[in-house]
Amino acid sequence: MIAVMNQKGGVGKTTTTLNLAHALALSGKAVTVVDMDPQSHLTASFGVELPDQEGIDSVIRGDNKVSDVKIKVRENLHLIPAGARLGELEQIAIGGAKRGWLLHDALKRIRNQDYIFIDCPPSSGMLTMNALLAAKEMLIPVSGDYLALHGLSRLLNILKHVEVRLKHTTKKWLVVTRFHSRRKLAREVHAKLLNYFPGQVLATPIRENVSLAESPSFGKSIFEYKKSSNGAQDYRDLADDLLKGRTFK
Ligand SMILES: Nc1ncnc2c1ncn2[C@@H]1O[C@H](COP(=O)(O)OP(=O)(O)OP(=O)(O)O)[C@@H](O)[C@H]1O
Ligand SMILES: [Mg+2]
Repeated sequence: MIAVMNQKGGVGKTTTTLNLAHALALSGKAVTVVDMDPQSHLTASFGVELPDQEGIDSVIRGDNKVSDVKIKVRENLHLIPAGARLGELEQIAIGGAKRGWLLHDALKRIRNQDYIFIDCPPSSGMLTMNALLAAKEMLIPVSGDYLALHGLSRLLNILKHVEVRLKHTTKKWLVVTRFHSRRKLAREVHAKLLNYFPGQVLATPIRENVSLAESPSFGKSIFEYKKSSNGAQDYRDLADDLLKGRTFK
């Protein structure tokens, strides 16, 4: 189970979850994605739009089982939508120490999947905490600019603090997104990342590519929208990186 996490907004969490999950499904892996963002962007990106739909929100509340709410969105690929009331769970004050483990408990009966991805919201609140505690691995998209790197040290500090306190450690992968290879700044950020996180930055940076930005509004992954694009090539390569544990050296 991999949480796709970064408290900074707009770094490519949802784009990465959508296209990496579909790339792995197309290569024959059994994949489930969980939309943990109350904005439901991932759910919409797959072309699923049900206004009053129930999702992981109702499983966490104990009203439904995963099998009641999961939707087959593509061959080998299932989606657990956010659900209309997921936002309420960010505010929950009940449950004490257990409230961080609600997603872990909700998902623990999922079997026979090669990969489960959790698309996190851009916050470091309860929903993200739940994703952290449910997952054994974490994929952190970092967009190729200085501010993202600045936010990254904040994120890693939060993670370290939480992991020590809760005695739960995760393996962390980083993926560089929105990469402009010709920009000097972007090159410097990439070099810094490799320096700070040796063996953790997946080998393929995802280039800035307009088709990646366009495809969700058609409810399509990049492989359905434009499979000859740079975006499709990059996410195909990234899937291969993850399968082989291939990192930038
Ligand atoms: N490689 C890319 N090339 C071009 N546009 C991209 C790329 N990656 C993401 N985008 C666009 O950037 C915007 C933010 O991406 P995305 O929604 O994936 O980020 P996010 O981290 O999930 O955001 P949020 O924190 O709001 O959930 C979207 O409009 C998306 O289409
Ligand atoms: Mg998102």
